[in-house]
Amino acid sequence: MKALHNQLHQQSIEQPDVFWADAAAALDWDKPFDKVLDASQAPMYRWFSGGEINTCYNAVDRHVEAGRGEQVAIQYVSPITDTAYGITYAELQAQVSRLAGYMASQGVSKGDRVIIYMPMIPETAYAMLACARLGAIHSVVFGGFAANELATRINDAKPKMILSASCGIEPSGVVAYKPLLDDALGQATHHVEQCLILNRHQLHADLVDGRDVDWQAAMVDAPYVGCQPVAATDPLYVLYTSGTTGQPKGVVRDNGGHAVALAWSMKNIYDINGGDVFWAASDVGWVVGHSFIVYGPLLVGATTLLFEGKPVGTPDPGIFWRTIAQYQVKSFFTAPTAIRAIKRDDPDGDFIKDVDLSCLQTVFLAGERCDPDTLHWAEQKLNKPIIDHWWQTETGWPVAANMMGTAPVPVKAGSPALAVPGYDVQVVDEMGERVAANQTGNVVIKLPLPPGTLATLWQNEARYKESYLSMYPGFYLTGDAGYMDEEGYLYIMSRIDDIINVAGHRLSTGRFEEVLCQHEAVAEAAVIGVDDKLKGQVPLGLVVLKKGCTLSDEQLHKELTALVREQIGPVAAFRLVSAVPKLPKTRSGKILRGTMRKIADNQTFNMPATIEDPYTLELVRNVLTRMGYADAHV
Ligand code: COA
Ligand code: AMP
Repeated sequence: MKALHNQLHQQSIEQPDVFWADAAAALDWDKPFDKVLDASQAPMYRWFSGGEINTCYNAVDRHVEAGRGEQVAIQYVSPITDTAYGITYAELQAQVSRLAGYMASQGVSKGDRVIIYMPMIPETAYAMLACARLGAIHSVVFGGFAANELATRINDAKPKMILSASCGIEPSGVVAYKPLLDDALGQATHHVEQCLILNRHQLHADLVDGRDVDWQAAMVDAPYVGCQPVAATDPLYVLYTSGTTGQPKGVVRDNGGHAVALAWSMKNIYDINGGDVFWAASDVGWVVGHSFIVYGPLLVGATTLLFEGKPVGTPDPGIFWRTIAQYQVKSFFTAPTAIRAIKRDDPDGDFIKDVDLSCLQTVFLAGERCDPDTLHWAEQKLNKPIIDHWWQTETGWPVAANMMGTAPVPVKAGSPALAVPGYDVQVVDEMGERVAANQTGNVVIKLPLPPGTLATLWQNEARYKESYLSMYPGFYLTGDAGYMDEEGYLYIMSRIDDIINVAGHRLSTGRFEEVLCQHEAVAEAAVIGVDDKLKGQVPLGLVVLKKGCTLSDEQLHKELTALVREQIGPVAAFRLVSAVPKLPKTRSGKILRGTMRKIADNQTFNMPATIEDPYTLELVRNVLTRMGYADAHV
C-alpha cells in the first residue's frame, strides 16, 4: 500500500487543484468556488476562493435532510457525573439552531467573535456549531487555563459574547468556572456585552445583572435560525496556542478548506464514514477537540463520542475500553500520555482482558512523541494497530500519518509514518539545504500548505509571516526537529523553540518565565522542560533571587508554584522550582536552556563555546541533582 500512499501524495503535490477539487465534492457548497488554490497573494495562499459554504449546515443539517435525523450525532459519556446520553442529528439541529437564534437576537452576526469557556459537555459543541451557523467566529478557551490567560484572549479576540458554564468537573472535584470568568472580565480591557451562562446542577453560579444571562431561560423563547452562507475563506474560528513569548498565537482557520480537509481525513486517515462511531478522547479546548471531537466526525455523518473523564481514576484504568465496547467505537484517538497513565495503573492490562473490543479497528495517538515502549505495550495489550500521527494546532489535521482508510503502510515504532497528501514535508539544515536520510534537521513544509491549515494569525499577519515563513522563504517552519528515513518515514524528536509539551498540552517556557519574574524576590528565571515518565515533559524552573531575599526554600517553592497556578492555570502542572546562584549564559547574554535541559535529563552535551562562565553549569547541575534530576555521577 506504500505505492498507493506515494501515488496519492504525489498527485496532491503535483496537481493540488485536481486533488482538492475532488475532495471538495464531499461537501455541500452554497456557491461553487472559482479557484481551488488561489496563489494570487502568495505566500498568503487561499483555498476555494469565490466559494460559499456553511460549516454547520455540512456538519448537521444536511445529514438530517439525507435521512440521518434519528442517528446519534453526539454520544455524551461522563463517568465523572455518572451520566450518558445520545443526541441525534435532528436534536442537534434543533439545539444548535435555537442557540444560534438566541445569539442572533442579541446581535451576534457574521464575523463577530464569541468566546467559549466551557467544560466537556454537549452544550460546548452546540455553542461552536451555533457560531458556525451564524458565520460568527468562535474562540474556545481551555477550562484548565487561569483567569489571566482568559483575559489575554478576550483582549485579543474582542468577543461580542462569551458562552460559559458554572463549572467543570475534574477528578479532584467541581472546578468553578464563573469566578474565573468574572476575574478575567475584570482584568480585560475589552468590554463584553453579554455572557450566556449554563448553570450545571453540580454548582450554581450567580449572574451579574445587566451582563449575564441564564442559558436555559434564554432558550425558552429562542427562535430557530437557518445557516448563513459565508465565503470559504472567511474565518470559522480562532484558536489560541502557545508561542515562544507570553502572548499566545491566535490560529485562524477558514470555513471551506477546513471542512474539505477534515472530511477527507476522516475517511482516508481514520477510516470513518457516515454511521461509524469515532472517539477522540481529548478536550474541545485543544485543536484535537475542534477537529476530531466536533467538526470532523460530524462533517461525515458519523457519531462522535464526547467524554468527560480521564483515562485513569474515573473510576479506573478500564474506562476507555469499556466505553469503546459499550458504544461500538470503530476508531479511537488519544494521547500517548493517557496510555502511559493506564499502563502505570494497569501494567498487565487486567482491565482490558474481559472487554470485547471486536468493534475497535484502530487506535490513533498524537499530541506528543510516542515512545516505542508505550506503542508496544498498547499493541500487545489491545492487539490492534496503534497508529502514531503528527500534527499541530496550526495545521489543524495530520501532517504525517498512516492512512488507515485508504492506504495503510507498515508501522515503524517511533515514527508517525509518512507525509500525508497535501504536505510536502522536508528536513533541512540551518541553511535550508535538505539533509540526507536519517540526518536530523528542522522539519519544514514547502508552501503552499494544504487546505484546512492556518490562514494567518488573528489580526497579526506580520507575526504569522515572522513566526512561520521568514526562516526559510517558501517553506513553513513547523518548529519541530527530526529526520526522515530512506523510505520517507518521519521521526519527530523535539521542538527547536522554547515550547514544551506537558501531557500533550503545549505550553511556552517564556510564559512561565514571565510569571516567575512577577514575584518580588525573583531577579531572573529560566524554565526548561524535563523528561517525565507520565506526562512526557514537565516544566522545571530555576530562579535567581534578588539580593537580600530572606524567603526559605520551602516558602519560595510554595509561593512560586501558587503564582504559576494562579496566572497560567492548573494545566501548567508546575511543581519543580528552585533557586540557583546564577544562570548559565552565553557571552551575549542568552540563557543556555538547551544545555541545562540536557544536564537535567542526563544527556551528553558539548560545553558551549560561547559560554560566559562554565562554572555556572556546575552550580545548576548541583541544584538539579538535589531536585532529583541530573545524576550526580554523570
Ligand atoms: N478544567 C479545569 N481544570 C482542568 C481541566 C479543565 N478542563 N483540565 C485539566 N485541569 C486541571 C486538572 O484538574 C489538574 O489540576 P490539579 O493540579 O488540581 O490536579 C491539572 O489541570 C492538570 O491536569 P492534567 O493535565 O489532566 O493532569 P493530571 O495529572 O490530572 O492527569 C493524565 C494526567 C495523563 C491522566 C492527563 O493529563 C490526561 O488524560 N492526558 C491526556 C491528554 C490529552 O488528551 N491531551 C490532548 C492532546 S491530544
Ligand atoms: P499542539 O499544537 O498543541 O497540537 O502541539 C503540537 C506539537 O506537539 C508538535 O509541533 C510536536 O512538537 C508535538 N507533537 C504532536 N504530535 C506529535 C507526534 N505524533 N510525535 C511527535 N511530536 C508530536
